Amino acid sequence: MIDPFGRNVTYLRVSVTDRCDLRCTYCMAEDMTFLPKADLLSLEELEQVCGTFIDAGVEKLRITGGEPLVRKNVMSLFRALGKRLNGGGLQELTLTTNGTQLARFAQELADCGLKRINVSLDTLHPDRFRTVTRWGDIDAVHKGLKAAQQAGLAVKINAVALRGFNDDEFDTMVRWCGEEGFDLTFIETMPMGSVDGRPDTYLPLTAVRRDLETRWTLTDSTYQTGGPARYVTVAETGRRIGFITPLTHNFCESCNRVRLTCTGMLYMCLGQDDSADLRKVLRTDPARLPDAIAEAIGRKPKGHDFFEDRLHRPAVARHMSVTGG
Ligand code: GTP
Ligand code: 5AD
Ligand code: SF4
Repeated sequence: MIDPFGRNVTYLRVSVTDRCDLRCTYCMAEDMTFLPKADLLSLEELEQVCGTFIDAGVEKLRITGGEPLVRKNVMSLFRALGKRLNGGGLQELTLTTNGTQLARFAQELADCGLKRINVSLDTLHPDRFRTVTRWGDIDAVHKGLKAAQQAGLAVKINAVALRGFNDDEFDTMVRWCGEEGFDLTFIETMPMGSVDGRPDTYLPLTAVRRDLETRWTLTDSTYQTGGPARYVTVAETGRRIGFITPLTHNFCESCNRVRLTCTGMLYMCLGQDDSADLRKVLRTDPARLPDAIAEAIGRKPKGHDFFEDRLHRPAVARHMSVTGG
């Protein structure tokens, strides 16, 4: 699937629920109204849409949310999609999770063919974790991470860099990830949905990298996951650090991805509002699904509008949890 700018779309991110057991302050407002369950695609419908994307050339599928592991019976979707690995068209099936349910699901995920997962963890302080997630218990995440290691899943930690919140613990996180054998990715906060305090907490990763370089030996790496991060290796730990820099270093030129929401809307860009209603097509004329997808890819915009001067008013009104990042 080639878009109007010559980019090959091979990566589908699928948000299986807008719900989450946490409420990270930069991601969701405290009083979120979640979608009625009746609006969601069933797991079978999600499987069907994903299958159509794989037939059309998608090689990498990432299940996201909200928190994907809070969707009832989500493991049946992983099992079905896992069957498309190893010769069925899919090169990688993976997951972005907050880790709270991993202790329960890590082994099953590995059994479905997942090799690596990304776990969102912005701080190692239990009290700060509770603050940023509004009520989360970091021990549940640690237990989940242990279970992932035991199941043989490689882990990448995702940390949104937040001024005045976690900017004094980046060294600790680099060291801890080195000890645990995790890669670590820092992310710039993106202006999606209304949340309090975003302009105050925004931290450009150019500054973070410059600061880390005064204490760690960072070397640019050619490592690629097909995601937006640019990686360096840390000589002292042997692990990688990724930088996701939508605001300071736009990566849209090499964008290879689109995202499906849990209601079957296809968003061609995380930072734009245009979408295609695949649920309607699926429920009225399913044979037209491949054409509807091709039409949507034909409208993929050049890039997002996440600029530093938009931090005080969201570039898009929907919250990150709708499209799963
Ligand atoms: P890898 O497969 O490990 O590269 O993962 P990933 O970075 O593709 O996925 P993940 O779910 O871990 O996302 C990490 C961060 O990257 C999240 O904050 C996403 O919102 C952000 N991200 C992923 N794709 C895009 C994109 O196309 N545009 C922007 N602006 N951010 C993105
Ligand atoms: N800006 C940047 N990253 C965000 N995430 C959630 N909301 C935002 C935002 N506004 C991150 C989560 C998770 C990933 C899917 O997206 O921390 O790691
Ligand atoms: Fe939930 Fe992830 Fe959003 Fe936090 S960032 S509220 S864990 S979806």
